[in-house]
Amino acid sequence: MTLSGGFTGAAIVAGIAGWPVKHSRSPRIHNYWLQQYGIDGVYVPFALAPETAIEAIRLLPALGIRGMNVTVPNKEKAYKAMDEVDRWAERLKAVNTIVVRDGVLHGANTDAFGFLESLREAQPDWQADAGPVVILGAGGASRAIVAGLLDAGAPEIRIANRTPERSDAIRDEFGSLVRPVPWERRADALGDATLLVNTTSLGMEGQPALEMDLAKLPATSMVYDIVYVPLETPLLAAARARGNPAVDGLGMLLHQARPGFREWFGTDPVVDQALRDHVLAAL
Ligand code: ATR
Repeated sequence: MTLSGGFTGAAIVAGIAGWPVKHSRSPRIHNYWLQQYGIDGVYVPFALAPETAIEAIRLLPALGIRGMNVTVPNKEKAYKAMDEVDRWAERLKAVNTIVVRDGVLHGANTDAFGFLESLREAQPDWQADAGPVVILGAGGASRAIVAGLLDAGAPEIRIANRTPERSDAIRDEFGSLVRPVPWERRADALGDATLLVNTTSLGMEGQPALEMDLAKLPATSMVYDIVYVPLETPLLAAARARGNPAVDGLGMLLHQARPGFREWFGTDPVVDQALRDHVLAAL
Protein backbone atom coordinates (compact mmCIF):
# COMPACT_ATOMS: atom_id res chain seq x y z
CA MET A 1 0.00 0.00 0.00
CA THR A 2 1.19 3.56 -0.62
CA LEU A 3 1.53 5.66 2.50
CA SER A 4 -0.72 8.51 1.44
CA GLY A 5 -1.57 10.69 -1.50
CA GLY A 6 2.09 11.72 -1.43
CA PHE A 7 3.43 13.84 1.39
CA THR A 8 6.08 16.55 1.20
CA GLY A 9 8.83 17.89 3.45
CA ALA A 10 6.16 20.06 5.09
CA ALA A 11 4.06 17.05 6.06
CA ILE A 12 2.48 16.85 9.50
CA VAL A 13 3.84 13.72 11.20
CA ALA A 14 1.83 11.53 13.56
CA GLY A 15 1.84 7.83 14.29
CA ILE A 16 1.24 5.01 16.71
CA ALA A 17 3.46 3.79 19.56
CA GLY A 18 3.17 0.08 20.32
CA TRP A 19 5.37 -2.91 21.16
CA PRO A 20 5.12 -4.78 18.91
CA VAL A 21 3.40 -2.36 16.58
CA LYS A 22 3.47 -4.27 13.32
CA HIS A 23 -0.06 -5.69 13.76
CA SER A 24 -1.62 -2.26 14.27
CA ARG A 25 -4.42 -1.32 11.85
CA SER A 26 -4.18 2.37 12.74
CA PRO A 27 -1.73 3.33 9.93
CA ARG A 28 -4.22 1.95 7.43
CA ILE A 29 -7.05 4.02 8.93
CA HIS A 30 -5.21 7.34 9.19
CA ASN A 31 -3.39 7.12 5.88
CA TYR A 32 -6.70 6.34 4.17
CA TRP A 33 -8.17 9.53 5.62
CA LEU A 34 -5.06 11.55 4.72
CA GLN A 35 -5.38 10.44 1.12
CA GLN A 36 -9.16 10.90 1.13
CA TYR A 37 -8.92 14.51 2.36
CA GLY A 38 -5.77 15.38 0.36
CA ILE A 39 -3.86 16.36 3.51
CA ASP A 40 -0.07 16.78 3.50
CA GLY A 41 0.58 14.40 6.37
CA VAL A 42 1.86 10.96 7.26
CA TYR A 43 1.04 8.45 9.98
CA VAL A 44 3.74 5.93 10.82
CA PRO A 45 4.24 3.00 13.21
CA PHE A 46 6.72 3.57 16.05
CA ALA A 47 7.99 0.45 17.84
CA LEU A 48 8.52 1.81 21.37
CA ALA A 49 9.76 -0.69 23.94
CA PRO A 50 7.90 -0.11 27.22
CA GLU A 51 11.20 0.30 29.13
CA THR A 52 12.05 3.47 27.23
CA ALA A 53 8.56 4.58 26.12
CA ILE A 54 8.33 7.49 28.57
CA GLU A 55 11.68 8.95 27.44
CA ALA A 56 10.73 8.52 23.80
CA ILE A 57 7.33 10.15 24.23
CA ARG A 58 8.83 13.11 26.09
CA LEU A 59 10.87 13.75 22.93
CA LEU A 60 7.86 14.20 20.63
CA PRO A 61 7.89 18.03 20.83
CA ALA A 62 11.65 18.14 20.12
CA LEU A 63 11.17 15.90 17.11
CA GLY A 64 8.38 18.05 15.73
CA ILE A 65 5.95 15.15 15.82
CA ARG A 66 2.36 16.39 16.13
CA GLY A 67 1.09 13.46 18.14
CA MET A 68 0.61 9.75 18.47
CA ASN A 69 -1.82 7.04 19.25
CA VAL A 70 -0.65 4.65 21.91
CA THR A 71 -1.44 0.97 22.12
CA VAL A 72 -0.51 -2.07 24.20
CA PRO A 73 1.63 -2.10 26.35
CA ASN A 74 2.35 1.63 26.41
CA LYS A 75 -0.93 3.31 27.41
CA GLU A 76 -0.11 3.51 31.12
CA LYS A 77 3.44 4.69 30.38
CA ALA A 78 2.06 7.39 28.11
CA TYR A 79 -0.23 8.56 30.92
CA LYS A 80 2.83 9.09 33.10
CA ALA A 81 4.65 11.00 30.36
CA MET A 82 1.92 13.66 29.84
CA ASP A 83 1.89 17.29 30.94
CA GLU A 84 -1.94 17.37 30.88
CA VAL A 85 -4.66 14.74 30.45
CA ASP A 86 -8.37 14.77 29.67
CA ARG A 87 -10.97 13.38 32.10
CA TRP A 88 -11.11 9.98 30.40
CA ALA A 89 -7.34 9.48 30.58
CA GLU A 90 -7.43 10.60 34.22
CA ARG A 91 -10.20 8.15 35.02
CA LEU A 92 -8.49 5.23 33.25
CA LYS A 93 -4.90 6.21 34.09
CA ALA A 94 -4.14 5.37 30.47
CA VAL A 95 -3.60 7.46 27.33
CA ASN A 96 -4.31 6.29 23.78
CA THR A 97 -4.06 9.67 22.02
CA ILE A 98 -1.24 12.22 22.47
CA VAL A 99 -1.44 15.72 21.02
CA VAL A 100 1.52 18.12 21.08
CA ARG A 101 0.42 21.75 21.37
CA ASP A 102 2.98 24.54 21.79
CA GLY A 103 5.50 22.05 23.09
CA VAL A 104 3.09 20.68 25.70
CA LEU A 105 2.03 17.02 25.77
CA HIS A 106 -1.73 16.54 26.08
CA GLY A 107 -3.06 13.02 26.67
CA ALA A 108 -6.55 11.76 25.91
CA ASN A 109 -8.27 8.43 26.06
CA THR A 110 -10.78 7.95 23.24
CA ASP A 111 -11.62 4.27 23.82
CA ALA A 112 -14.88 4.98 25.66
CA PHE A 113 -15.82 7.53 22.97
CA GLY A 114 -15.06 4.97 20.26
CA PHE A 115 -17.20 2.36 21.95
CA LEU A 116 -20.19 4.66 22.51
CA GLU A 117 -20.01 6.15 19.00
CA SER A 118 -19.91 2.72 17.38
CA LEU A 119 -22.86 1.61 19.50
CA ARG A 120 -24.88 4.68 18.49
CA GLU A 121 -23.91 4.24 14.85
CA ALA A 122 -25.18 0.66 14.91
CA GLN A 123 -28.29 1.38 16.97
CA PRO A 124 -29.17 5.10 16.99
CA ASP A 125 -32.12 4.64 19.38
CA TRP A 126 -30.08 2.74 22.02
CA GLN A 127 -30.42 4.30 25.49
CA ALA A 128 -27.78 3.66 28.15
CA ASP A 129 -30.33 4.12 30.94
CA ALA A 130 -32.76 1.52 29.56
CA GLY A 131 -31.50 -1.30 31.78
CA PRO A 132 -28.60 -3.40 33.06
CA VAL A 133 -25.56 -4.15 30.93
CA VAL A 134 -23.55 -7.38 31.13
CA ILE A 135 -19.83 -7.22 30.36
CA LEU A 136 -17.57 -10.22 29.94
CA GLY A 137 -13.94 -9.52 30.84
CA ALA A 138 -12.16 -7.10 33.17
CA GLY A 139 -9.04 -5.94 31.29
CA GLY A 140 -8.19 -2.50 29.91
CA ALA A 141 -10.91 -2.55 27.26
CA SER A 142 -13.50 -3.50 29.87
CA ARG A 143 -12.48 -0.60 32.12
CA ALA A 144 -12.82 1.92 29.27
CA ILE A 145 -16.24 0.54 28.34
CA VAL A 146 -17.43 0.58 31.97
CA ALA A 147 -16.33 4.22 32.27
CA GLY A 148 -18.17 5.12 29.06
CA LEU A 149 -21.37 3.30 29.98
CA LEU A 150 -21.50 4.81 33.48
CA ASP A 151 -20.94 8.26 32.01
CA ALA A 152 -23.76 7.63 29.52
CA GLY A 153 -26.13 6.70 32.37
CA ALA A 154 -26.15 2.90 32.59
CA PRO A 155 -28.05 2.00 35.79
CA GLU A 156 -26.19 -1.26 36.49
CA ILE A 157 -23.16 -3.00 35.00
CA ARG A 158 -22.66 -6.69 35.71
CA ILE A 159 -19.12 -7.89 35.06
CA ALA A 160 -18.22 -11.54 34.71
CA ASN A 161 -14.52 -12.33 34.64
CA ARG A 162 -12.58 -15.56 34.93
CA THR A 163 -10.36 -13.96 37.60
CA PRO A 164 -12.82 -12.42 40.11
CA GLU A 165 -10.20 -10.13 41.68
CA ARG A 166 -10.13 -8.07 38.48
CA SER A 167 -13.91 -7.50 38.35
CA ASP A 168 -13.88 -6.72 42.08
CA ALA A 169 -11.16 -4.14 41.43
CA ILE A 170 -13.36 -2.44 38.81
CA ARG A 171 -16.23 -2.29 41.32
CA ASP A 172 -13.91 -0.83 43.95
CA GLU A 173 -12.74 1.79 41.49
CA PHE A 174 -16.01 2.69 39.74
CA GLY A 175 -18.55 2.17 42.50
CA SER A 176 -21.57 0.12 43.40
CA LEU A 177 -23.37 0.37 40.03
CA VAL A 178 -20.73 -2.18 39.00
CA ARG A 179 -21.72 -5.66 40.19
CA PRO A 180 -19.26 -8.52 39.75
CA VAL A 181 -20.89 -11.85 38.89
CA PRO A 182 -19.13 -15.22 38.94
CA TRP A 183 -17.79 -16.29 35.54
CA GLU A 184 -19.64 -19.61 35.86
CA ARG A 185 -22.95 -17.73 36.37
CA ARG A 186 -22.56 -15.36 33.41
CA ALA A 187 -25.50 -16.79 31.48
CA ASP A 188 -27.82 -16.20 34.46
CA ALA A 189 -26.97 -12.48 34.51
CA LEU A 190 -28.62 -11.92 31.11
CA GLY A 191 -32.27 -12.02 32.26
CA ASP A 192 -33.13 -8.30 32.00
CA ALA A 193 -29.98 -7.08 30.24
CA THR A 194 -30.34 -4.54 27.43
CA LEU A 195 -26.77 -5.02 26.22
CA LEU A 196 -24.16 -7.78 26.37
CA VAL A 197 -20.53 -6.85 25.62
CA ASN A 198 -17.66 -9.29 25.16
CA THR A 199 -14.34 -7.63 26.01
CA THR A 200 -12.40 -10.87 26.44
CA SER A 201 -10.09 -12.23 23.79
CA LEU A 202 -12.22 -15.38 23.56
CA GLY A 203 -13.55 -15.94 20.05
CA MET A 204 -10.63 -14.10 18.48
CA GLU A 205 -8.72 -15.89 15.72
CA GLY A 206 -6.25 -18.28 17.38
CA GLN A 207 -7.98 -18.04 20.80
CA PRO A 208 -10.40 -20.48 22.44
CA ALA A 209 -14.11 -20.05 21.71
CA LEU A 210 -16.31 -18.03 24.05
CA GLU A 211 -18.92 -20.25 25.57
CA MET A 212 -21.99 -18.16 26.25
CA ASP A 213 -25.53 -19.43 26.53
CA LEU A 214 -27.85 -16.67 25.27
CA ALA A 215 -31.12 -18.42 26.18
CA LYS A 216 -31.98 -15.89 28.91
CA LEU A 217 -31.16 -12.78 26.86
CA PRO A 218 -34.24 -10.72 25.92
CA ALA A 219 -34.96 -10.75 22.17
CA THR A 220 -34.36 -7.01 21.73
CA SER A 221 -31.03 -6.81 23.63
CA MET A 222 -27.92 -5.81 21.76
CA VAL A 223 -24.86 -7.99 21.58
CA TYR A 224 -21.50 -6.27 21.08
CA ASP A 225 -18.20 -8.08 20.56
CA ILE A 226 -15.03 -5.97 20.63
CA VAL A 227 -13.24 -8.75 18.75
CA TYR A 228 -12.95 -7.90 15.03
CA VAL A 229 -10.84 -10.79 13.72
CA PRO A 230 -13.02 -12.53 12.71
CA LEU A 231 -15.61 -9.81 12.20
CA GLU A 232 -18.46 -12.23 12.73
CA THR A 233 -17.53 -14.08 15.93
CA PRO A 234 -19.50 -17.17 17.02
CA LEU A 235 -21.08 -14.94 19.71
CA LEU A 236 -22.37 -12.47 17.11
CA ALA A 237 -23.52 -15.29 14.83
CA ALA A 238 -25.47 -16.84 17.73
CA ALA A 239 -27.00 -13.44 18.58
CA ARG A 240 -28.09 -12.79 14.99
CA ALA A 241 -29.50 -16.31 14.67
CA ARG A 242 -31.92 -15.59 17.52
CA GLY A 243 -32.78 -12.12 16.20
CA ASN A 244 -30.71 -9.91 18.53
CA PRO A 245 -29.03 -6.85 17.02
CA ALA A 246 -25.29 -7.62 16.82
CA VAL A 247 -22.38 -5.15 16.62
CA ASP A 248 -18.81 -6.08 15.69
CA GLY A 249 -15.62 -4.57 17.13
CA LEU A 250 -14.40 -2.79 14.01
CA GLY A 251 -16.53 0.29 14.74
CA MET A 252 -14.80 0.92 18.08
CA LEU A 253 -11.39 0.79 16.39
CA LEU A 254 -12.47 3.23 13.68
CA HIS A 255 -14.30 5.71 15.91
CA GLN A 256 -11.58 5.88 18.59
CA ALA A 257 -9.25 7.10 15.82
CA ARG A 258 -11.36 10.19 14.97
CA PRO A 259 -10.38 12.64 17.76
CA GLY A 260 -6.63 12.21 17.18
CA PHE A 261 -6.94 12.70 13.43
CA ARG A 262 -8.98 15.86 13.96
CA GLU A 263 -6.46 17.32 16.41
CA TRP A 264 -3.34 16.52 14.37
CA PHE A 265 -4.55 17.09 10.84
CA GLY A 266 -7.38 19.62 11.31
CA THR A 267 -10.21 17.68 9.67
CA ASP A 268 -12.99 15.78 11.43
CA PRO A 269 -12.87 12.46 9.55
CA VAL A 270 -15.86 10.31 8.64
CA VAL A 271 -16.25 6.62 9.39
CA ASP A 272 -18.07 5.10 6.43
CA GLN A 273 -18.40 1.83 4.55
CA ALA A 274 -15.49 2.67 2.24
CA LEU A 275 -13.16 2.99 5.25
CA ARG A 276 -14.51 -0.23 6.74
CA ASP A 277 -13.89 -2.01 3.42
CA HIS A 278 -10.38 -0.56 3.20
CA VAL A 279 -9.49 -1.81 6.70
CA LEU A 280 -11.26 -5.14 6.20
CA ALA A 281 -9.25 -5.80 3.05
CA ALA A 282 -6.14 -6.07 5.25
CA LEU A 283 -7.59 -8.06 8.14
P1 ATR B 1 -7.46 -5.93 27.29
O1 ATR B 1 -6.66 -4.93 28.06
O2 ATR B 1 -7.27 -5.87 25.82
O3 ATR B 1 -8.90 -5.90 27.67
P2 ATR B 1 -6.46 -8.13 28.94
O4 ATR B 1 -6.15 -7.23 30.08
O5 ATR B 1 -5.44 -9.13 28.53
O6 ATR B 1 -6.80 -7.36 27.62
O7 ATR B 1 -7.83 -8.87 29.24
C1 ATR B 1 -8.27 -9.96 28.54
C2 ATR B 1 -9.61 -10.43 29.11
O8 ATR B 1 -9.93 -11.71 28.50
C3 ATR B 1 -9.56 -10.67 30.61
O9 ATR B 1 -10.81 -10.37 31.16
C4 ATR B 1 -9.27 -12.18 30.68
O10 ATR B 1 -9.69 -12.79 31.87
P3 ATR B 1 -8.68 -12.83 33.16
O11 ATR B 1 -8.77 -11.48 33.81
O12 ATR B 1 -9.23 -13.92 34.00
O13 ATR B 1 -7.32 -13.14 32.61
C5 ATR B 1 -10.12 -12.67 29.54
N1 ATR B 1 -9.70 -14.00 29.07
C6 ATR B 1 -8.63 -14.32 28.31
N2 ATR B 1 -8.55 -15.65 28.10
C7 ATR B 1 -9.61 -16.20 28.76
C8 ATR B 1 -10.11 -17.54 28.94
N3 ATR B 1 -9.48 -18.59 28.38
N4 ATR B 1 -11.24 -17.71 29.68
C9 ATR B 1 -11.88 -16.67 30.25
N5 ATR B 1 -11.46 -15.37 30.11
C10 ATR B 1 -10.35 -15.14 29.40
